[in-house]
Amino acid sequence: MTSRPEAELDTSAAAETKTVSGDNTRKVFVRTYGCQMNVYDSERMTDVLAPQGYSTTEDMEEADLVILNTCHIREKAAEKVYSELGRIRKVKEERAKAGKDMMVGVAGCVAQAEGEEISRRAPIVDMVVGPQSYHQLPSLLDKARQGQKVVETEFDIDAKFDHLSERAEKPIMKRPPAAFLTVQEGCDKFCTFCVVPYTRGAEVSRSVEQIVTEAQRMAASGVREVTLLGQNVNAYHGEAADGSTWGLGKLLRRLSEIDGLDRLRYTTSHPRDMDDDLIEAHRELKSLMPYLHLPVQSGSDKILKAMNRKHTRDEYFRLIDRIREAAPDIALSGDFIVGFPGETDQDFEDTMDLIRRVEYGSAFSFKYSQRPGTPGATMEDQVPEDVKSARLQELQALLSEQQKAFNASRKGMTCDVLLEKKGRNPGQLVGKSPWLQPVQLDAPESMIGSVQAVEIVEIGSNSLFGRLIAGQDAADGSGAIPAPAA
Ligand code: 5AD
Ligand code: SF4
Repeated sequence: MTSRPEAELDTSAAAETKTVSGDNTRKVFVRTYGCQMNVYDSERMTDVLAPQGYSTTEDMEEADLVILNTCHIREKAAEKVYSELGRIRKVKEERAKAGKDMMVGVAGCVAQAEGEEISRRAPIVDMVVGPQSYHQLPSLLDKARQGQKVVETEFDIDAKFDHLSERAEKPIMKRPPAAFLTVQEGCDKFCTFCVVPYTRGAEVSRSVEQIVTEAQRMAASGVREVTLLGQNVNAYHGEAADGSTWGLGKLLRRLSEIDGLDRLRYTTSHPRDMDDDLIEAHRELKSLMPYLHLPVQSGSDKILKAMNRKHTRDEYFRLIDRIREAAPDIALSGDFIVGFPGETDQDFEDTMDLIRRVEYGSAFSFKYSQRPGTPGATMEDQVPEDVKSARLQELQALLSEQQKAFNASRKGMTCDVLLEKKGRNPGQLVGKSPWLQPVQLDAPESMIGSVQAVEIVEIGSNSLFGRLIAGQDAADGSGAIPAPAA
């Protein structure tokens, strides 16, 4: 409900994925910033490095290779990376005193945007690798070891996906019950505030076969819930084996047939790309969870136009009506930007009004920040910082109220919960409700990875508290890292 954490995910990919193969004599530490897409990419990077003998570590000091997987969506992203590199330099110097080497790589959207500038400003960086080049990591590492400064920021996304899919066919020991799967990358929408079309490039979809193969392998290694990822995921248009093009609805139908995949989700969607087939999939597919992240950004037609969002507020309302008609129980989530250039009190009031009418289950909200290279950055009528702050506070208070009301409405309900991991206290597990809320309950560890029927008995500030309904295993199933853009 508050602003998305942009820098604190700290998913040393270690915790997420363990790969077999290689002699595991070298250690890689990956720090992931930003959205779920980066979490997925970090896992793929460690997959690619495993045959090179790298296993993951959560302790930077013992790492032979440190990778920062960066995010560029908000202000000062690059500056934060430079200050982190300053800290890493000290660790590297300490290791050098002990006669140990440490390579440093910067990956992700800051790498793409800054390129060579990174190794110029931070000479400890051996490799700068853009999001479309992770499959080349082993050869890039070789070059870096020979003393070359490596900067690889080409946009060859097809090659990345082909190669990463091959990797996915190698045996994977065990994955957590809920995992991400990237199906689409990049964006052609060019919202005037957003860097994604510049850092991630044009929209590209993976083939149906690649995705199905990866999903089958995930299911075989213990994954029960897959969240399909893309910056504009519902613009998915992948090629099927017969040469036809499939949309996201059709892809979800196919994935719902995979044994063991109890739950499907997708994020992030653009209102313009919610087609009838996808809405119907919400009506038909039991495994498609009743949760939809559908950013609107603003409730003012004037601002939507200036943002180049390609839809009006009325079109958004009509869309929400159709979605709720197909899936009455759906939890709606969104992204909001306050203080876009030219936003008046009335425009802001229109956004508040839209929120009151839609009633969100959860949402992310941000003050507009000028991103160099985007049209918004040079627009006149930039809104003063104090006005933005006041509006954000008001908007978040309303969204927080709605989230509390939505959570409270679950009290007394029985729902399926996918039990994902141990909780804070002994004997406690944490899982996710169909509506993506964390649920805490007492249950044996052996139930991790299963979907159980749970009665919601209490509502906390950030999670629900449940009670196992004894003897009632859920017959079917139904994950909070920020979603990619759209
Ligand atoms: N300023 C503020 N918020 C932004 N977002 C993207 N670019 C900006 C920006 N320049 C937000 C949007 C998007 C989410 C991922 O981040 O709400 O949906
Ligand atoms: Fe594309 Fe979303 Fe960015 Fe708009 S906000 S340009 S839809 S990624």
